[in-house]
Amino acid sequence: MSAQPAVLITGASTGIGAVYADRFAARGHDLVLVARDRARMEDLAARLRERDGVNVEILRADLASHADLVQLEARLASDSRIGVLINNAGASLPGTFVEQGPEAVGGLVDLNVTALARLAAAVAPRFTREGRGAIVNIGSVIGLAPEFRSSVYGATKAFVLYFSQSLHLELGPKGVYVQAVVPGATRTEIWQRSGKDVNALPAVMEAGDLVDAALVGYDRRETVTIPPLPDAQQWVDYEAARVAMFANFGQSQPAARYRETV
Ligand SMILES: NC(=O)c1ccc[n+]([C@@H]2O[C@H](COP(=O)([O-])OP(=O)(O)OC[C@H]3O[C@@H](n4cnc5c(N)ncnc54)[C@H](OP(=O)(O)O)[C@@H]3O)[C@@H](O)[C@H]2O)c1
Repeated sequence: MSAQPAVLITGASTGIGAVYADRFAARGHDLVLVARDRARMEDLAARLRERDGVNVEILRADLASHADLVQLEARLASDSRIGVLINNAGASLPGTFVEQGPEAVGGLVDLNVTALARLAAAVAPRFTREGRGAIVNIGSVIGLAPEFRSSVYGATKAFVLYFSQSLHLELGPKGVYVQAVVPGATRTEIWQRSGKDVNALPAVMEAGDLVDAALVGYDRRETVTIPPLPDAQQWVDYEAARVAMFANFGQSQPAARYRETV
């Protein structure tokens, strides 16, 4: 077993999750890979075992399935070798909100929100008891931009950002690092899986560049890492505007404009 904590990565069969597996293996971490496609994870695991000499375990799980999720939660809660959770598995949907329908909308929330929050909830008590550990949640710039009209996907990613920032406040003082990674368009299968043409986008980041930048933020212990944002001050200003606003939320009366009758 490696001296470093093992890293459990959801959505590790391809895309951003597979690159995280590659990079953590190169750093000497043992891995637990989670996704539905066992064959792809076997190929990746064989390559990383051979290249880096790390242990790689494969857990086939559908994170939208309650039964699979509960098994994974039990593992995260009890296995003290796992010291890093990369909450990466996620999907998007084709079509507009009106076209998507309740089943698809519910399924997306199950994967992008419920699974992500439940896995964090399963591991957080152990991490806080141990006074260490890291939870990395993969959001999206779309979570900051309703203008993209990706209603449910964007809302699930807004959840990831809020959840991570709030979790950081609770768990940070207990020695647990929480990071929200906020990618822009990145070249992976998510586009084709959700019926979109990645080549039609004006700019697309390669998954390797995205993860390498996210890991710079990880090593710096940033709470929010937005790899494509050139000017970090814009995020600082955005946060300052938000914090300045909530100082005004505690009022005993509605604002004057709502006390007018027209
Ligand atoms: N690519 C982008 O432009 C972009 C931008 C912003 C944020 N993100 C976020 O980055 C994360 C990774 O996405 P990606 O771009 O790498 O997409 P991807 O290439 O489609 O990979 C998604 C991963 O999630 C797994 N997955 C999907 N549904 C699952 C389920 N029900 N249960 C278990 N695993 C499941 C897939 O594996 P199986 O099919 O084998 O289960 C795959 O490993 C997502 O959270 C996504 O929202 C991506």
